[in-house]
Amino acid sequence: MNEAAKGAWSELETAPDPTLLELFAGDTDRVELLSGRIDWDGEDGKAGILFDWSKTHLTQGLLSGFETLAEAMDFVGKRSALLGGEVVNLTEGRAAEHTAQRGIGADASVEEAGALHRRMAMLVDAIHDGALGPVKHLIHVGIGGSALGPALAVDALTRDLAKVDVHIVSNIDGLALEQAFAACDPAATMIAVASKTFTTIETMTNAESAIQWLERAGIDDPYGRVVALTASPEKAVEWGVDETRVLPFGESVGGRYSLWSSIGFPVAVAIGTEEFGQFLAGARAVDEHFRDHDGAVNLPLRAAFADQYYTRLKGCQTRAVFAYDERLALLPDYLQQLEMESNGKRVTADGELVDSPTAPITWGGVGTDAQHAVFQLLHQGTHLVPVDFIASIAPGDELDPAHHRILLTNCFAQGAALIAGGNMGANGNDPARAFPGNRPSATMLCDDIDPATLGALIAFHEHRTFANAVLMGINPFDQFGVELGKQMAGRIDAGGERFDASTEELLAAAGLG
Ligand code: F6P
Repeated sequence: MNEAAKGAWSELETAPDPTLLELFAGDTDRVELLSGRIDWDGEDGKAGILFDWSKTHLTQGLLSGFETLAEAMDFVGKRSALLGGEVVNLTEGRAAEHTAQRGIGADASVEEAGALHRRMAMLVDAIHDGALGPVKHLIHVGIGGSALGPALAVDALTRDLAKVDVHIVSNIDGLALEQAFAACDPAATMIAVASKTFTTIETMTNAESAIQWLERAGIDDPYGRVVALTASPEKAVEWGVDETRVLPFGESVGGRYSLWSSIGFPVAVAIGTEEFGQFLAGARAVDEHFRDHDGAVNLPLRAAFADQYYTRLKGCQTRAVFAYDERLALLPDYLQQLEMESNGKRVTADGELVDSPTAPITWGGVGTDAQHAVFQLLHQGTHLVPVDFIASIAPGDELDPAHHRILLTNCFAQGAALIAGGNMGANGNDPARAFPGNRPSATMLCDDIDPATLGALIAFHEHRTFANAVLMGINPFDQFGVELGKQMAGRIDAGGERFDASTEELLAAAGLG
C-alpha cells in the first residue's frame, strides 16, 4: 500500500464513531445524502433501483476519508483501464471485458460482442420459431460462473412462463443430471454445454452423460442437439459440436463475469432475445453511472466504502444479503461466487501479503423465511453483520396484495429494528430480551424485478466488487485458489500416490483406495 493510502487509512481509523440513532438525529438530510437512484428507460417511462445506504455508519467525514483513499489507490485510473479494455488482470495478463458485452469497452471488443449477440439471437429465434424442430427443453450443463448466473436469471425471470423449459445442471453428482433427464423428453431437448475452458471435469462428464442419454433414447445425431458456449471453440469442435453451433466469447471475459456473453444463452432461450437485450441494457445503465460519476456519488463505489469500513475498520467477517423476493432467491449464491472468488485473496496485486482482511464471507437467503431462521444472530448475536436488503415495489404475485404488503413491511421493519434495538422485557432491563441495536444495513429497492433490473443489480455488484478490490489493492480477476483442490482430485484419481493418513482412510472406506 502506498504512503498516501496508508495516510488515508490512519485518518479513517480515528474518525468519530456515533451510533446510527445519533447519526439520524443529528442530520435531517442523512437519507438524501446517502441514497441515490440508478434509472433507465423502462416500458412505461423511467424505471430503476433506489440504493439507500443511510442505515450504515457512513458520514460526510467518512465519505471524504474514503474518497481520499480512492484517490490514493488511483480508482479513476483503474476504472478507466477496466472499462477501456486494458490488461487489469495482471497475474494472467488479460483484460476483464465483461462490460464490452454490454456495449462499454474497447471498440474491437464491443464490436465482437455485438456480433456474438447477433449470432446468438439468430439461434435463439430459430429455436423459438421451430426451425430446429421441436425444442421444449434445454439442459444447460456448466458450473461456477458458467451456471450460477444462468440459474439466477432463469429462476428470477421465468416465474410466469418460460418460452422453453430450461434446466441448469452443475453438480457432478449424477442425481442432478438424472433429475433433469426425468423432466425432459429427449426427442424435444437441446443440450447447452457451457464452459469457458471446455475442460472442466464436472461439465465435460455431464455433457458426455447427456449425449449418452440422447443415444439411449434413439436420437440419431446427438451432437447435433448440442450448442457450445465457450471461449475455447476449437476444443468444442474437437469434442464433437458442429462449428455452426459454437457460440464463442472472448478469453478476456472472466468466468464469474460471463453471464452477459453466450453463457447467457439459456436465459435468452427462456425469456426471448428482446428481453435478453433489456437485461444487457439494465447492466449498461449501471456501467454508465459507474463510468460517469466520481467520488461518493458513484453508488457502487459508495457501497464499497461501507464494505471497507465494516470489514477493515470494524472487523466484520461476514456480509449478509437478504432478498425479500422469491424471484431473487438465488442471488445470494450468485454473489457468493462473484465476491468471494474475486476478492477472497491474501496478496495484493503487487504480490505482497495483505495487512488487513479482504473479502468478507457473503451469505444470505430469502426474506421473510430467513427471519425465522438466522435473524436471531443478526439482532442478538455477538457478530456484527452488515446486512443488505433487496426488495421490489411491484409484487411478483397476483394474490391478495396483503402478501406483498407484509413482505415489504417486514423487510423495512428488520432494517429499522437493527438500528433501534431496545429491550422487550417487562421491566425494560431483561438481558435475554435486550437488543443492542446500532446494527447496519443497506436497502436496494427495485421498482420491479424484470430483465433490466436484474441486469442492473448484477452489474452494480460487479462494480462494487471491483471498487472494493481497488481500495484494497488486490486483483479481483484471477482465482488460483480453486486450482489446488482440482489438482489434488486429479492426483487422487490418477492413483499411485499416498496422501495424509485421514485421506487414505476415507479413500479406503469408500472403496477407492
Ligand atoms: O473453478 C472455478 C472456476 O474456474 C470458475 O471461475 C469458473 O466460473 C468455473 O470454474 C467454470 O469454469 P469453466 O467455465 O471453464 O468450465
